[in-house]
Amino acid sequence: MEKPLALGIIGHPIGHTLSPLMHAVAAGSAGVSLAYSVYDVKPENLRAAMEGVRALSIDGLNVTVPHKVDVMESLDEITEEAAAIGAVNTIVRRGGRLTGYNTDAHGFLTSLKENAGGDPAGKSVLVYGAGGAARAIVAGLARAGAGRIVIVNRAEGKAERLAEKVRGLGRGAETEGLGFSSNKLFESVRSADIIVNTTAVGMEGVGGRLPAMDGVRKGQLVVDIVYRPLETPLLSRARAAGAATLDGLWMLIHQGAMSFTLWTGKPFPADRVRRALLAELQRESS
Ligand code: ATR
Repeated sequence: MEKPLALGIIGHPIGHTLSPLMHAVAAGSAGVSLAYSVYDVKPENLRAAMEGVRALSIDGLNVTVPHKVDVMESLDEITEEAAAIGAVNTIVRRGGRLTGYNTDAHGFLTSLKENAGGDPAGKSVLVYGAGGAARAIVAGLARAGAGRIVIVNRAEGKAERLAEKVRGLGRGAETEGLGFSSNKLFESVRSADIIVNTTAVGMEGVGGRLPAMDGVRKGQLVVDIVYRPLETPLLSRARAAGAATLDGLWMLIHQGAMSFTLWTGKPFPADRVRRALLAELQRESS
């Protein structure tokens, strides 16, 4: 029998992740044999864990918070895209060499195009958040030709720095960084074509509120990368205002799809995986 691919995810803390189920369902459908493990790795153990990955000949990993940046120093190669984003979320071992990829931007852009009919080329996009997820999404938007990108973050300095960084990427989108209390905020939300929340606001158990949400209107596409709950306060608000909405489960699925195909060379059954993940989320909340 062929040896199953040894895969897994490293993060800390690593609560209830949907990734093992996602890859098990995809493997069943693609006819590949794999074992996907969950590794809770404290930051001080990251280097040792990566030595272990080499020693144990692990075939591939997903990397999540807080290791997406620090893991890069333990790799042999990093793709140009992951280097531009400044974070790795997928590792592939080929002939003993470990290569770091970032599949988050691809996951986000694919969800936008395939699940919401949205092409960011030439569009004005407002992004809440300036952390790791925002970095990948904003880099993806810039490369996809977004015309204007406004980054809105609680810590204003981080929004300004990310806006500055992204100005050099892609086709030269106009960019701006704003804090939560900026007096330009309502108008920026109002005039955006696409609005994306990349912060944890709206996630179960997380407090806080996104500012200027009442600027959301008909004609916009509103995306939340949070998927617990699937319908966040931002998406409810958008739906009530007549805007189109896209939930975060699709981005999770498409980033996983790219990882799966990098590891196995096989196509990924996105619709089948979505049905399985929706059933799992339903089970969790009942
Ligand atoms: P991720 O990889 O998920 O983006 P991260 O890099 O820790 O995680 O970034 C978290 C983002 O969510 C940041 O933009 C953070 O805002 P600050 O930079 O101001 O901290 C934002 N965030 C998290 N919790 C928040 C809250 N309760 N209210 C507003 N913003 C929040």
